[in-house]
Amino acid sequence: RDIGLLGIPLEAGGAVAGTLMGPAALRTAGLAARLTALGHRVYDHGDVTPLVVADRDLPEALVARCRNAGTVAGYVRAAHERALAILEAGQVPVFMGGDHSISMGTVSAVARHCAATGRELVLLWLDAHADFNTPVTTPSGNIHGMPVSLLCGEESLQPVLGGHRFPPLDARNVHLFGLRSIDQEERQAIARHGLDGVDMRLIDEFGVSVLLRRILAGLDPERTHLHVSLDVDFLDPEVAPGAGTPVPGGATYREAHLVMEMLHDSGLVGSLDIVELNPFLDERGRSAVVLAELAASLFGRSVLDRPTGQRSVA
Ligand code: ARG
Ligand code: MN
Ligand code: MN
Ligand code: MN
Repeated sequence: RDIGLLGIPLEAGGAVAGTLMGPAALRTAGLAARLTALGHRVYDHGDVTPLVVADRDLPEALVARCRNAGTVAGYVRAAHERALAILEAGQVPVFMGGDHSISMGTVSAVARHCAATGRELVLLWLDAHADFNTPVTTPSGNIHGMPVSLLCGEESLQPVLGGHRFPPLDARNVHLFGLRSIDQEERQAIARHGLDGVDMRLIDEFGVSVLLRRILAGLDPERTHLHVSLDVDFLDPEVAPGAGTPVPGGATYREAHLVMEMLHDSGLVGSLDIVELNPFLDERGRSAVVLAELAASLFGRSVLDRPTGQRSVA
């Protein structure tokens, strides 16, 4: 496949500085070479140049509740435009964050592309958090806790994208996976909107394979574009310490790889975010390496060759 890498070095959406180094660390960890080794053609489009958006150009109610709203909007809008161009060029984009607010720009562009090409967008959100806060419910004011709301159509957040319009995701097509930290009002909103949530308790009880297969089984390979949004804190902090909002009890190294391997076998994945990597908090680049390895699994790396058909032993 043709894969397009795009760096979005944004840190203003989170509370802890350092995710702006995420794209550089993923490159240093050999992301492109790992994908090339699998037979893909990899194009590195560099990092986005943010647009300049002043807080006064955004609604006052938004600015009052969201830290660094103008800065985040500048990156999100630029990311959206660059993402759309990569998709239109027929490449599978790999978006290297940056904090998770980059997904406001990347996934909204994917939604537009899907609408234009007659496909249904399904979102797999691999994260300890739901990122389903709004400017009203946020306990922190950090925009990286809000992207799923924007993507599901939350009106108060649309000004972040400026004039870019996209078809909001259907709540039934949003799968939050790996949950273990949700705010009170966020939890109520998840139930009200009917998002699908797989928390760590379910993963402990049934294992990732059963739960992921349940999500993938219902998807039509002809029509579906699956976007995977991988937050480093999906992983347990022991596996990936380079995270600004770590939560104990996350996915193990093998659980995360199994998710990626199954996603590859599904043939459904059309785009990927790798977000929240904070190299300043990392230990000698090990989280960056883990994420690059996970991306390789998603794009077909396997221990043994597996002939088709042997892939999913039901
Ligand atoms: N729920 C918390 C908040 O709204 C934490 C969000 C963490 N999000 C992330 N992308 N790491 O502030
Ligand atoms: Mn396409
Ligand atoms: Mn997140
Ligand atoms: Mn998270």
